[in-house]
Amino acid sequence: MSDTIAVLAIGDIVGSPGRDLIERNLKALVARHNVDFVIANGENASGGHSLQPKNASELLSYGVDVITSGNHIWHSRKILEIIDIEPRLLRPANYPQGAPGRGYCITRVGETPVCVINLIGRIELAMVDCPFRKFDAIYNEVRERARIIIVDFHAEATSEKRAFGWYCDGRASVVFGTHTHVQTADDEVLTKGTGYISDVGMTGSFNSVIGVDKEKSIQNFLTQTRVPFDVAGGNEKINGAVFTIDRQGKTINIVRINE
Ligand SMILES: [Fe+2]
Ligand SMILES: [Fe+2]
Repeated sequence: MSDTIAVLAIGDIVGSPGRDLIERNLKALVARHNVDFVIANGENASGGHSLQPKNASELLSYGVDVITSGNHIWHSRKILEIIDIEPRLLRPANYPQGAPGRGYCITRVGETPVCVINLIGRIELAMVDCPFRKFDAIYNEVRERARIIIVDFHAEATSEKRAFGWYCDGRASVVFGTHTHVQTADDEVLTKGTGYISDVGMTGSFNSVIGVDKEKSIQNFLTQTRVPFDVAGGNEKINGAVFTIDRQGKTINIVRINE
């Protein structure tokens, strides 16, 4: 068995163009980067603004090991059919107590337990419990069971994301950001071994405004009349990052994916 584990984190999959990319290209991407474990944010996988149970099953069948999400997970109530029974689907853990679904899971990669935690930020996004303190609580629950801990921090503000990354440094193996749909170039291994990137980006059409039809987005900004969005097509790419993690749970290398 190898001394390291490679985790691929895929940015928000947007609509059918994003799902098709995963169906066609994930296996080759995994082979090319010797990936052991795949996490993908699926909050926009259905129509750009929700996740339907059928599409969640498809993503899992294409080779995604754990689906994370964010604010859009609640957009279609259909997700409630599976959110309590599909252990590989997460919603942010810091939604208030009583929200359906789960915010973290522990799975095995070979013999190695890997914990995935999904959290959401509070700046310009969601009225939820403190993600920092929620991380503390989950970390204390899982630290004896899993040395490798991966966090999808779904947030708008880079300040909140970077503060969160430093807050987790040495405790989380990886903190990767999602939600903005734009990949940042600030990937680095923090001082105590946490692999960090503010946002891994988006998987879908880049002939777009963050995955949706650009003309409709422009009309929306011009008229402020809530023009309905369509998922865009063209110039389709997978965004993500591959984190190589040692058995101590420290990240030793990060490769950004934009292809
Ligand atoms: Fe998103
Ligand atoms: Fe989001």
